[in-house]
Amino acid sequence: MTTDLATPDPAAATRAAAPPLAEPSGWHEIRLTVDGASVTAQVESRLLLSDFLRDRLGLTGTHVGCEHGVCGACTVLLDGEPARSCLTLAVQCEGAELRTVEGLAPGDAPLTPVQRAFHECHGMQCGFCTPGFVMTATALTEQPQRPDAADVADALSGHLCRCTGYRNIRRAVCQALDERFAGGPAGRGE
Ligand code: FES
Ligand code: FES
Repeated sequence: MTTDLATPDPAAATRAAAPPLAEPSGWHEIRLTVDGASVTAQVESRLLLSDFLRDRLGLTGTHVGCEHGVCGACTVLLDGEPARSCLTLAVQCEGAELRTVEGLAPGDAPLTPVQRAFHECHGMQCGFCTPGFVMTATALTEQPQRPDAADVADALSGHLCRCTGYRNIRRAVCQALDERFAGGPAGRGE
């Protein structure tokens, strides 16, 4: 069987002319809290949370690396839990409390223990991965009991860093945990 590429396919022409598949409701109003501020926005069904934060709210501190849930750079806290903003739709955040790296120490506020630990332990080089690590580490320090070394390793395993070799990142996280849970098990993770 041969195909004459020069002859238009009537069925294909019909498909091309058809409107995109209809969505029941393409736009939604969402209300949420972002870094302590109330936000109301109209968002498309398919808008990613990472794009909403960066493009609509200008919160470019949340980085986007792989865009498919592998690198962890886009991690934010969604109702206190780390979430990949590149795998989360903005509409899913209706009523949620979102925290980004930019809300940790706004303006002239002092650095949080996690941020300070990353600085003091040289837990970053280019810094591209750092917002994600910092948000996951922040969630670890906010747990009611100190996570053990295995918990820390498990949490950090969801983040990729091309620069540091991870050692100083683990030191930073453990320093922050030491400060938060003074006297707890060390679990240096080295
Ligand atoms: S950009 Fe979201 S996990 Fe990599
Ligand atoms: S510091 Fe460069 S990717 Fe982690």
